[in-house]
Amino acid sequence: MIVATARETATGETRVAITPETAKKFAALGAKVRIEAGAGLRAGLPDQAYADVGAEIAPDAAAALGGADLVLQVRAPGSSALRSPAHGATLVAMLDPFGAGGAPQACAEAGLDAYAMEFLPRITRAQSMDVLSSQANLAGYRAAIDAAGAFGRVFPMMMTPAGTVPAARVFVMGVGVAGLQAIATARRLGAIVTATDVRPATKEQVESLGAKFVAVEDDEFRQAETAGGYAKEMSDAYKAKQAELVAGHVAKQDVVITTALIPGRPAPRLVTAAMVAAMKPGSVLIDLAVERGGNVEGAKAGETVTTPNGAIIVGSSAVTSLGGAAAALYARNLYAFCEPMFDKATKEFKPDREEEILKATLVASGGAVVHPRLKPPA
Ligand code: NAI
Repeated sequence: MIVATARETATGETRVAITPETAKKFAALGAKVRIEAGAGLRAGLPDQAYADVGAEIAPDAAAALGGADLVLQVRAPGSSALRSPAHGATLVAMLDPFGAGGAPQACAEAGLDAYAMEFLPRITRAQSMDVLSSQANLAGYRAAIDAAGAFGRVFPMMMTPAGTVPAARVFVMGVGVAGLQAIATARRLGAIVTATDVRPATKEQVESLGAKFVAVEDDEFRQAETAGGYAKEMSDAYKAKQAELVAGHVAKQDVVITTALIPGRPAPRLVTAAMVAAMKPGSVLIDLAVERGGNVEGAKAGETVTTPNGAIIVGSSAVTSLGGAAAALYARNLYAFCEPMFDKATKEFKPDREEEILKATLVASGGAVVHPRLKPPA
């Protein structure tokens, strides 16, 4: 039984799906662990750290994944790496199931049983496996730090003999896991923080962090949360009212951090080019939703853009630059997800595809895309 990972190939990606800590745990389950040379380097994990816990270091992706039974990745591997594991092998990764890359289909064609961690049900038992939460938490923190770094002034109010420097005004749009951590971090740095979301439950959460809640609180807002705790796509009428409210507010901000997402839909466009144009020179916008289409018009994935009026738009998933911490949590999430796939008595690898959590996340099996949310309606 071989558990393997190849080096992540996406630009800017620093994470790795197996750390020496989890390699050791997989070995204790009876598995052999194999990693591609250099896979952990950008997360601060040299090959020797893996070798020290008994993992095998393979020279390239094909050698690492060849004959593997369980492949763990951060993102979907490229097509040649996908074809390296044994037919019927299991792949666990963030497969961006609704994205343009078509990873579930590619996994099906490669004959893999593929699990998309984005579909993990948000039930108590699965919290230790929740990659969206662990990564969003770090991303929110890093977004506030990146904003402070890109901002030409300071976050806290400073009273000095040379005069007073005002506190920065930070506006966080989208108050899920990432947004809450961005609020908490910006507050700790001394900024004056406001925040908005379409889910009414967030108002109290924002206020409990010492920030002010700003939103159109009409009947639609009061019903905007799904049973699963996610946001719904709002009506055009609501979006227009929201845009009007937000436009006046954004113009007065020094920093805007956007994190708004709707599962299965492109990210809502919350900040238009006109709103950015009304901001002061030196204002900073951090768009964490950039890989899903972006909340800020003009944001570009992996790039920092300075607009003609001198606003700085950072299109960043933030967490990719936090390799060490992000990989540590991500690898633990994946271990927690995979551990029940091993039969403790016989040490056999036997995923039960009918088990609730596996069933909810299985996207490809037996050569086909099998997830109900991905299959075209009959
Ligand atoms: P997400 O990453 O899907 O979205 C981020 C935020 O954007 C959400 O708060 C959403 O309401 C907001 N948003 C969407 N459209 C918007 C718009 N037009 N304007 C402003 N904001 C907009 O959300 P995330 O972080 O995954 O959290 C979703 C829910 O899941 C939350 O209720 C969270 O508390 C819950 N959760 C539950 C867990 C559990 O195990 N029970 C674990 C983690 C999160």
